[in-house]
Amino acid sequence: MNDLLMAFEVLIAIYKDGAYSNLELNKRVNGASNQAIVTRLVYGVLQKDVQLEYYLAKVANKRPPKTVAILLKLGMYALTYINSIPRYAVVDSLVTICEKYGKRQLKGFVNSALKNFDASSIVLPKDKIEALSVETSVPLWLVKAYSKQYGFEVTKEFLSVDTFTKEHIRPNLKRLTVEQLKYMLKTQNIQYIQSDADGLFIDNNSYIKSLNEKGLITYQSMTSMLAAQAMEVKEGESILDMCSAPGGKAVYMSELAEVFITACDIHEHRLQLIRDYINRMGATGITVEYNDGSVFNSGFVDKFDKTLCDVPCSGLGVVGKKADIYLTASMDKCHQLAALQYEILCNASKYTKKRIVYSTCTTLREENYNIVGRFVKENKNWKVVTLQQYLPDGKGRDGFFIAVLERTSL
Ligand SMILES: C[S@@+](CC[C@H](N)C(=O)[O-])C[C@H]1O[C@@H](n2cnc3c(N)ncnc32)[C@H](O)[C@@H]1O
Repeated sequence: MNDLLMAFEVLIAIYKDGAYSNLELNKRVNGASNQAIVTRLVYGVLQKDVQLEYYLAKVANKRPPKTVAILLKLGMYALTYINSIPRYAVVDSLVTICEKYGKRQLKGFVNSALKNFDASSIVLPKDKIEALSVETSVPLWLVKAYSKQYGFEVTKEFLSVDTFTKEHIRPNLKRLTVEQLKYMLKTQNIQYIQSDADGLFIDNNSYIKSLNEKGLITYQSMTSMLAAQAMEVKEGESILDMCSAPGGKAVYMSELAEVFITACDIHEHRLQLIRDYINRMGATGITVEYNDGSVFNSGFVDKFDKTLCDVPCSGLGVVGKKADIYLTASMDKCHQLAALQYEILCNASKYTKKRIVYSTCTTLREENYNIVGRFVKENKNWKVVTLQQYLPDGKGRDGFFIAVLERTSL
C-alpha cells in the first residue's frame, strides 16, 4: 500500500503539476519500503502512458476526473506488469487511495474497473498503425511519422525492441587503454561486451562506479562516442563544440588527440557541468565559454578547423532512458527545434574551415536529414561526406543521427 501510495503521489506531481519525474522520484523514494518497486511503477506508468490511456477508454464509459484517471492507470499498470504485488492488494490499496483523495463516490467504480481488468482481453484497434501505437505505447502522431519515413515494418521492428539495461563505458584514454580496462574487469570477474565504438557494455556495479568516480572510466553511450570519432580530430587542430554540456564529447575528443577545444553552451549552470567533468577526467586543452549557437558570433569566424554541432533535439532516440519523453513531445516542438538546429548549423559553417559533424539523439527526419539536406542545398561550399541514421536495436544502440559535412573547393 505504502509503495502504491507513494508511486501515486509522485505520478500526481508529474501529471498534474508538471514535475520532472527523476527529481520528484528522488525527492520521495527514500521513504519507500521497496524503492525498486516505486521506481518501476512510476517509470512504467509514464512509459506505458499511451497504452494505459487506451485501456482507460475501454474500462470507463466517460473519462474520469484526472486524479482517478491516474489512479486507474497505476492500477492497470501494476495488474499487467508487476507480478510481485497480489491482485487483491493492488485493487484494495487503490480503492483506499481513491477515498483518501476525496473521490469516495468513485470508490465502487474504481473497485469494479480494476477487479475486472485484464489487459489480454482488450481488443486492439483494427488499423495496424493505431494498433502498433497501443502495443508499443508510442503516440499515434509519431508512429504515423515513423511509418511514413521508414515504412511500417522497420518502424515496428525498432519500436518493439526490448529496453537494454546494460551501461556503456569507456576508459579515460589519458589514464587507461581499453585492453587495460578489460584486464581490470576480468580480475573482478565482470563480464563485458565490446561495442562498435571500442567501449564496453557492462552491468553496472559498485566497482564500476568507483572507477568512474576516480576518473579512470566514464559512462558514455556508444553512439555518442561514434559522433566524437566522426570528427577525426588530429593533433594541433582547433575544435569548436557548439553545444557542449555536460561535455561528454568534448572530453572524449581531448583524449583522442592533443587538440584545442572551445566548449560552449547557452546555459551557465550547464557550463559548470563541463568544468566538473573536465576536472574529474583530468582533461586538458579545453576552454569553456558561454555562447548562444543560434546567434552569429563574429569573434568565431574562420577560427576553427572542425566543429561539432551536437544540437539540442527531441531526444526521441533515447526513450528507453527518458520514461516521460512522450508525455511532452509533439511535432510542433520538433519543428521549433529544427529551426534552432538549422540556425546553429548555419552559424557553425561560418566558423569552420574544414569539417562539421552534425549529430542528434533523435529518429525524426525533421531534425536530421531535412536539416542537413537543406543546409547543403543552400550552401554549395559544403558537402555531405557521410550520413547515418542509427535506430534502437535493443542491444545497446540508441536512435542517433551523425552527418559529416566538409567544405568543398567551390
Ligand atoms: C545534446 S546536448 C549536448 C551534449 C554534449 N555534446 C555532450 O556530449 O555531453 C545539447 C546541449 O545544447 C545546449 N543548447 C541548447 N540551446 C543552445 C544554443 N542556442 N546554443 C548553444 N547550446 C545550446 C543545451 O544546453 C545542451 O547542453
